[in-house]
Amino acid sequence: MSEVLVLNGPNLGRLGTREPEIYGHATFADLESLCVHTGSELGLTVEVRQTDDEAELIHWLHEAADRGVAVVLNPAAFTHYSYAVRDACAALTAPLIEVHISNPAAREEFRHTSVISAVARGTITGFGLQSYVLALRALV
Ligand code: DQA
Repeated sequence: MSEVLVLNGPNLGRLGTREPEIYGHATFADLESLCVHTGSELGLTVEVRQTDDEAELIHWLHEAADRGVAVVLNPAAFTHYSYAVRDACAALTAPLIEVHISNPAAREEFRHTSVISAVARGTITGFGLQSYVLALRALV
């Protein structure tokens, strides 16, 4: 495995200005360069994408399945209710790591459920942008 797709769901493009007390001050561009840089240290080609659109996210997961590419996924709010994203994750053909910047278990009740976790190889939450670094390391 040398290629990884790092996929991000809704509102994560707003990192830096979105609820900085929860998600920090780093921007989505910072996240992208952190992932690409970490990947190059680990010998991985990393591509980082973000969408607010459930259908687009599902199409990217289909693409990952067809190409046999590993995925690091922050499904954002889709985590908690999207059976369609879960079904697309279940059909992946290479490992999936679920990541979260915050720790959803320590937040509102509706965030305590992840419909994705059961189809992920593992889940990393609560370490800020480092959650992504840990996920890339876990894949290797
Ligand atoms: C999040 C946690 C989700 O509950 C939330 O809807 C997000 C971000 C995180 O990275 O901490 O958008 O996935």
